[in-house]
Amino acid sequence: MLHPTLEVLPNPESRSTEEREKLLVDPGFGRVFTDHMAVAIWTRGQGWHSAALTARKPFVLDPAAGVLHYAQEIFEGMKAYRAQHGAINLFRPEQNARRFNASARRMAMPEISEEMFLEAVETLVRADRDWIPDGEGSLYLRPFMFASEAFLGVRPAEEFTFCVIASPAGAYFKGGKSAVSLWVSDHLNRAGPGGTGAAKCGGNYAASLAAQAEAYEQGCDQVVFLDAVEHRWVDELGGMNLFFVFDDGRVATPPLEGTILPGITRASIIELLRRRGVEVNEESYAIDQWQADARSGRLSEAFACGTAAVVTAVGRVKGRSGDWTIGNGDGGTFTAAIRNELIGIQRGLVEGPDGWVRQVRR
Ligand code: PLP
Ligand code: COI
Repeated sequence: MLHPTLEVLPNPESRSTEEREKLLVDPGFGRVFTDHMAVAIWTRGQGWHSAALTARKPFVLDPAAGVLHYAQEIFEGMKAYRAQHGAINLFRPEQNARRFNASARRMAMPEISEEMFLEAVETLVRADRDWIPDGEGSLYLRPFMFASEAFLGVRPAEEFTFCVIASPAGAYFKGGKSAVSLWVSDHLNRAGPGGTGAAKCGGNYAASLAAQAEAYEQGCDQVVFLDAVEHRWVDELGGMNLFFVFDDGRVATPPLEGTILPGITRASIIELLRRRGVEVNEESYAIDQWQADARSGRLSEAFACGTAAVVTAVGRVKGRSGDWTIGNGDGGTFTAAIRNELIGIQRGLVEGPDGWVRQVRR
């Protein structure tokens, strides 16, 4: 696939070092944005064109743009990390490019070459490298694509906009909680068989928000979705995959059957554990079994994982049929160890499998 060369147009109004440093003190998640963005346009018959790195600015969008009506939109989430000796690392970014294209196919959108995806991401990281927080923080990168054609008929759009923005990030959960609490969504579904659950499209997140609001009302941090048919099998959280650790050393995670997102963190954890000889089963786990196993102590830990949240212990689960606590409710040593290993690999402090870390060229 041919791709246009990206024109680099630096932002003449980039913020001063002083302003930037103030914003980097406590960026939280998704609130602070850098000075640039990468963009490209796709038009039917022409393919990708007008690729550029420019000042970050609002889009000019026709009120009839497809995305505003029929939600033809996909996105990715990835991070750039400060590593030793001034290096900047990306973690398995080609996996994000591949998943982006898988999402594009499901949503009847054009694919983008892996090279163009990576060039857009890396050019933005290079331009905004000073926005990568020191210490535990990272630069969260958000590639996305949406239907920008002005047309109200219901069909795949004939013009799309691809964009990458960047946001310095600290912990996803306020206060860097050691364990989060989950609300079981037993009637609001996120995804069903044949639906878009495995695609990273905005619509999945829109569908999750009423349940997420319920979770907040119930005093919980996140919502855990069950399968849409039986409301029995654990799927995933609104923005994270789930793992279960048993007292006999086995680990389980829900299988990829089209309704959950194939997380890159999930795949990486499975690979790291299996290399170490840990038995990891990708198998369905029933919500009542989860409750019973937590009560009996057979389940020793549970954790959520994803780019934004990294690895976060699940301490407590609350549903209409009761509440339960996992272990002492504060996370355990297995979760802490896998979290540290992953962070170590991402920052180049621990050697990971070949090819997992990609250094951004200067
Ligand atoms: N599941 C959902 C619904 C997500 O939004 C995410 C975050 O991207 C994940 C799982 C974890 O995916 P990854 O590990 O690739 O970030
Ligand atoms: C991510 O971890 O990148 C996510 O997409 C989760 C959430 C911020 C949507």
